[in-house]
Amino acid sequence: MDAIRIERLSKTFSGGASAAGRKALDEINLRVGSGEMVALIGASGSGKSTLLRHIAGFVASDPQPSQIEILGRPIQQNGRIVREVRRIRRDIGFVFQQFNLVHRLSVETNVLIGALARLPLWRRLTGCFPRSERELCVAALTEVGIGDKAAERAANLSGGQQQRAALARALVQRARLILADEPIASLDPESSRRVMDMLRMLNRDHGLTVVVSLHQVDIAMQYCPRTVALRDGRVVYDGPSAALTPALLRQLYGSAARELLEPDAAHAITQRFGARLNTA
Ligand SMILES: Nc1ncnc2c1ncn2[C@@H]1O[C@H](COP(=O)(O)OP(=O)(O)OP(=O)(O)O)[C@@H](O)[C@H]1O
Ligand SMILES: [Mg+2]
Repeated sequence: MDAIRIERLSKTFSGGASAAGRKALDEINLRVGSGEMVALIGASGSGKSTLLRHIAGFVASDPQPSQIEILGRPIQQNGRIVREVRRIRRDIGFVFQQFNLVHRLSVETNVLIGALARLPLWRRLTGCFPRSERELCVAALTEVGIGDKAAERAANLSGGQQQRAALARALVQRARLILADEPIASLDPESSRRVMDMLRMLNRDHGLTVVVSLHQVDIAMQYCPRTVALRDGRVVYDGPSAALTPALLRQLYGSAARELLEPDAAHAITQRFGARLNTA
């Protein structure tokens, strides 16, 4: 079964940068099989975050014939998000560039939040988690390499450790699909490598489907067998990551290819625009 199936997805934002009627997403068709690990690349403003938000049912598409299915169940259709969206979202773990954890809570509590949807109401109201869930939480934190941080306040973790805690939360949630929107954009190379290693571990060892948006093509090539490349809201490439040579990237993106080939340029651009777009 496909983990994600998208048919004819378009999105036009009213006002802002898209005031001229330019589509943020333009007739996207995409299928991601269960167990795949796919990179989503594209220059700043190409539509990566917008696409991931539609897949999660956070944003409704244009009111035209279209469909997004998660593991065989529609999450939105023809511009309307389905009523059972919360139930479908239980299968999805999210990792964002920032704002992943509640800073004032402990790491353990943040990870246990992943279990909330599966627990009866009284446990949710009292915050009284069964021992089995706490054990699952410690196991997940250990698996992502921060087992010693359970009691720490989330605010005290480094950026990379926070991202790994977000992955532990997805494990505790028993998510089947991970949507990660530039999870390494604010991290140094060593922390980036660790977070990508953990995403790969979730994919290989736990069979989770992973879609991860990235600015750097070299990381996509290293970790993801398949890359989907967006430009101005359209899929301009969908195939093996290994085939994404600098020449092909220049053909697809023109001078904007620099942003994808030189991580420093990507970093500078993310610093300038990332925060604004990610809080939009
Ligand atoms: N809430 C919004 N209102 C209006 N326009 C928006 C909104 N969100 C995104 N857009 C526009 O949609 C287009 C795609 O933006 P998106 O954030 O998806 O790009 P991105 O590929 O994630 O970029 P980045 O690499 O900088 O994160 C841009 O032109 C952006 O300005
Ligand atoms: Mg983005």
